Amino acid sequence: MQVYVAENYTDMSRKAANILSAQVILKPDTVMGLATGSSPVGTYQQLIEWYKKGDLDFAQVRTVNLDEYAGLAPDHSQSYRRFMQENFFDHINIPRENTHVPNGLAPDLEAECRRYNQVIQSLGGIDIQLLGMGHNGHIGFNEPGQAFELETHVVDLTDNTIEANARFFASRDEVPRHAITMGIKSIMQAQRIVMVVSGADKADIVRAAFAGPVVPQVPASILQMHPNFILVGDKDALSKLR
Ligand code: F6R
Repeated sequence: MQVYVAENYTDMSRKAANILSAQVILKPDTVMGLATGSSPVGTYQQLIEWYKKGDLDFAQVRTVNLDEYAGLAPDHSQSYRRFMQENFFDHINIPRENTHVPNGLAPDLEAECRRYNQVIQSLGGIDIQLLGMGHNGHIGFNEPGQAFELETHVVDLTDNTIEANARFFASRDEVPRHAITMGIKSIMQAQRIVMVVSGADKADIVRAAFAGPVVPQVPASILQMHPNFILVGDKDALSKLR
């Protein structure tokens, strides 16, 4: 595991974007695993800026997102497909058909999980996976206690996650109760993994995940076992990691 210490969120985003852009330059048809949430937004902004300057070309890049809420249409204001369009895809030259997000409206969610696993496989696997981490150590929607050996699957969201996401919906009742997520196994099969983490509120979980034992109660702790894992954090998030 490699750790890059950044001054602040902007610096963290630039460092992560540097790693991703180097990957795209070296392998123009890179398969990128992508995340939503506040952590990677600055990384996407930096990549967009470099694209607009002419330094990056996404024409051949393929993407697979980690997760999507069950029951939300792709254009719902809180769907992860919409998040990715607004925060990244609409601003770069990636063909829409090269971008993959689980279909939250699939009538048979289990079949959708199987289809998504096949999509990842047919792309030849993930070259580089970008991750954020929840306050309880979740990655994707893999909540504490989930088995490490799962691929894409349907999850029941915990009260903790429903509570954390309620601020984005009109009321708590509107927060979906289920989601589709790539599993820990799918994530661990990526060639390289980059996690962005910022803020003092993440310092305790950063220590638990990366200086503590590898346990399903802290899903991100498994990343310690990945041969090519890069943690890019700002000083506040890394303050309790020795
Ligand atoms: C979203 C995802 C989640 C987030 C996590 C952290 O696609 O994978 O695991 O990375 O909830 O969210 P933020 O970055 O908003 O703190």
